[in-house]
Amino acid sequence: MSGQDNLFEHAKAVLAENDCGDFTRPAPDLYPHQWLWDSCFIAIGLRHLDSDRAQKEILSLFRGQWANGLLPHMVFTSSNKPMTHQDVWQSWLNPLSPDDVNTSGITQPPLLAEAIVQIGEKLPLTERRTWYRQVWPNLLKYHQWLYSERDPHDEGLVLLIHPWEGGLDITPPWMQELNQHLPWWIRLLHKTHLDSLIRPLRSDTKHVPAEQRALNVEVLALGHSMLQLRRKGYDINKILKRGLPAIEDLSFNAILIRANAHLKEIAKTLRQELPEELVERMALAEQALEELWDTYTEQYYSRNFATLKLLKEPSVATLLPLYAGSISQERAAKLVSKLENDHVFGTAFPVPSVPQDSSWFDPLRYWQGPSWVNINWLIIDGLKRYGFADHAAALRDSTLEMVDRSGFFEYFNPLTGAGLGAVNFSWTAALIIDLLKTK
Ligand code: GLC
Repeated sequence: MSGQDNLFEHAKAVLAENDCGDFTRPAPDLYPHQWLWDSCFIAIGLRHLDSDRAQKEILSLFRGQWANGLLPHMVFTSSNKPMTHQDVWQSWLNPLSPDDVNTSGITQPPLLAEAIVQIGEKLPLTERRTWYRQVWPNLLKYHQWLYSERDPHDEGLVLLIHPWEGGLDITPPWMQELNQHLPWWIRLLHKTHLDSLIRPLRSDTKHVPAEQRALNVEVLALGHSMLQLRRKGYDINKILKRGLPAIEDLSFNAILIRANAHLKEIAKTLRQELPEELVERMALAEQALEELWDTYTEQYYSRNFATLKLLKEPSVATLLPLYAGSISQERAAKLVSKLENDHVFGTAFPVPSVPQDSSWFDPLRYWQGPSWVNINWLIIDGLKRYGFADHAAALRDSTLEMVDRSGFFEYFNPLTGAGLGAVNFSWTAALIIDLLKTK
């Protein structure tokens, strides 16, 4: 068997191990539930193996959809154990949450339309239409919710209320923002090093070495922020009125712009008209993304929703407008030069989640340095569409090499390629299958 065949077979085995029937868990032990953007990436890989199973992966997400259209970032598998995730989130506090399944009360990056189109690409036109028709009501409702609820000032940019919504959990711009909102008791615990008291309560560090995960103070900040949302019953009006952190997140909005393009494509295939209000907001989104460009440092950043100030902590999000596809060729070239630069994103095993020249850069720590296969996949896709074929091929090859050498890890040391975080991680496996099957 060739090296690539071996990699493919191994990837299939990881997905089979994590298959829970209707959905795929992200990893054994550490991630036992269904996550929104994980399932989208997983479906992109599954479409090469079994189209029906890939469709099921997407349809199962709709079990968790709220009456207002929100797709929650987690749909919980039921458990009788006390103090599980569902008891912490208490989605039942909001009357719009589903009655028969427990979920979180926040969302995750809108990769849904991408996954639907990727599945559709593998189907003959009639079957593709049937597939699109099946998902259309849920998909449209989700996009309408994103704008109606998360863009209250009609700016064309949606806001996020928790770092987990962006998927890059402890990314520097978000952590910086949370630090500014830390309550006195977390500051005190941190200062007196008593934050380490939470260590026995953490399940992640039972599976993964502590230096590869969030700091205790970051876990406290994330948990505190989540409890504040729960206290408001996940009601966006109450959350915004209370002045809780709200960010127009760069990577989320870049992904949404691409999702909008896919939504239009799906509507065209179905000969469906999109609601006018949505079309207007979608058009505005592409201009609004340019407001996140900083002329001095020549890169994009996230923005504080209330103050409209750019959050100038660099992260890999700055490259995701390549995936959005709406930026000029000139700006795309500027981003590519950062990817080429050894001091910025051009590490031995790119793309680091934080550039090397940032004071936050740590090659081991979760979203503060390591390379992630899903982000590489998005960047490869964007590079291809902007005509940077050689860059796309080089990134594809280094991604395959990294996983081939180290295994199907959650993330990787960008300097050495060593595997970090959870083992047998589903989106790593699924996207390796996709990279192997598409050039
Ligand atoms: C981690 C990641 C998040 C992902 C989840 C499940 O929390 O930061 O993006 O969805 O794991 O894999």
